[in-house]
Amino acid sequence: MERILVTGASGQLGAVLTKALQLKFGAEHVIASDLQFNKSFKGVFETLDVTNLEALKTIVGTYKVTRIYHLAAILSAKGEATPLKTWEINMSTFFNVLEVSRLLGVERVFFPSSIAVFGPNVSRMNTPQSSNLSPLTVYGVSKVAGENWANYYFNKYDLDVRSIRYPGIIGHQSLPGGGTTDYAVDIYHKAVKGEPFDCFLKASTRLPMIYIDDAVRASMELMEAPSKNLSVRTAYNLAGMSFSPEEIVRSIKKSYPNFEVTYRPDFRQKIADSWPMSIDDSKAREDWGWKPKYDLDTMSQVMIDNLKRYYNSVIA
Ligand code: SER
Repeated sequence: MERILVTGASGQLGAVLTKALQLKFGAEHVIASDLQFNKSFKGVFETLDVTNLEALKTIVGTYKVTRIYHLAAILSAKGEATPLKTWEINMSTFFNVLEVSRLLGVERVFFPSSIAVFGPNVSRMNTPQSSNLSPLTVYGVSKVAGENWANYYFNKYDLDVRSIRYPGIIGHQSLPGGGTTDYAVDIYHKAVKGEPFDCFLKASTRLPMIYIDDAVRASMELMEAPSKNLSVRTAYNLAGMSFSPEEIVRSIKKSYPNFEVTYRPDFRQKIADSWPMSIDDSKAREDWGWKPKYDLDTMSQVMIDNLKRYYNSVIA
C-alpha cells in the first residue's frame, strides 16, 4: 500500500489534493506537511520545512514514504519581491526531495511546474509542449530548472519523477497565495459577497486556467499512469480552459447582473503578458488520457454555489 507525503499541504492545491488522496488511499496513508499546523486539518500531519534535508529524511524514513507530492513553493508574483530567496527556496526544497527520494527509495515524485515556464518569445496561442523556455519571473526560472532536474534524476538515477505545467488554478475550497492568476479566485469571493472587484489585470488579458477538481484529478491520473506510457519527463503541458477578466465577469454576471468591476493593472500585468493565452496539451491527452471536465460556465456555477453556501454558514 502507498504511503504518500504531501509538502505544502496547507496551500491552495495541497489542501484539496490531500483530501482527494485521503479518499483514494485511506487517511492513514497520507502524510500532510507544511510549515505550520493547520488546526482544521483532519488526518496525519507533520510540521516540516522542506529546506531542512534531515527533517525531510526523518519523515520519509519514519513513514516509509513511497510517493511524494512536492507542492511547497513561492509563486510568480510574490517571488518577484525577493528573487534570490525565491530561487533558493524553490530549488533547495526540490533538491532535498530528489535526493531523499533517491537515497531512501521513494518510488514516485510529483513536481508541479507551471505556465510560468514560458516567456514572451513563444507562440502564445496553443503554446506547444516543446517551446523555447525563457521565462521572465524567477518563479518561472525555478520551474524550468526544476523540470530539467526532474528529467535528469529520471535519466541518471531512474527516479520516477512526473510533472505538469499547471495553468492558473481556481477553487472555492482554499485561497491561492502570491500568484498572477489569483484574481480569478478573488473575483468569485467578491461577487458572492456583493462587493465590487478591482482587477489587477487588464480586461482583455487571456490566460490558461483550470478548475481545481480537474487539476487534482490530472495530478492523480498522471501519478497512476504506467511509467512506460510517459514520453515527457520534464513536464506535461495541461489545459483546462482559457479566459480573460472580461470573460469571467460575463460568466459571473449571469448570476450577479449588477456585479461591478474596475481594472487597475499593476506589475502583474507584465507577467501575464509574457505567458501563453492557451495551451496545446495533446501530449498529456495521448500519453495518459487527459481530458478536462470543466469549462468557464460550469466552473462559475460550482464556484458560486459553494461560496454562497460557505458565506451563508459563516454569517449564520
Ligand atoms: N498560478 C501560478 C501563478 O500565478 C502560475 O503557476 O504564479
